[in-house]
Amino acid sequence: MHVGCEHGVCGACTVLLDGRTARSCCTLAVQADGAEIGTVEGLAAGSRLHPLQEAFWAHHGLQCGFCTPGILMTVQEMLADNPDPTDEEIREGLSGNICRCTGYQFIVDAVREAAAVLRADRAH
Ligand code: FES
Ligand code: FES
Repeated sequence: MHVGCEHGVCGACTVLLDGRTARSCCTLAVQADGAEIGTVEGLAAGSRLHPLQEAFWAHHGLQCGFCTPGILMTVQEMLADNPDPTDEEIREGLSGNICRCTGYQFIVDAVREAAAVLRADRAH
């Protein structure tokens, strides 16, 4: 587990449980029993980065990177629910993930681009 605050506030530990975000620091093993668990380690396909990772790289969507695994998982859920979010919706969707480095603008830029890439992928 990627540990931050350990009491459900920072979002750094966010994983997907059956496609929905969960704070792993506040989740008991028994609650995850039988669930499919998604973590940042599962995003890339071998050496090929996921479009979200590519976009964060291209737009400098991270500095220290501590918040990044949780943010990427949160964005996975966000884009599954809303493939074309506005900047305001992206900021709202990330309101439970604290980043103390970036000021969020580059993260928003990265999410917007990743959303466009994923929409184009789906169209083909
Ligand atoms: S470690 Fe901060 S929310 Fe889990
Ligand atoms: S990049 Fe450092 S906390 Fe977000």
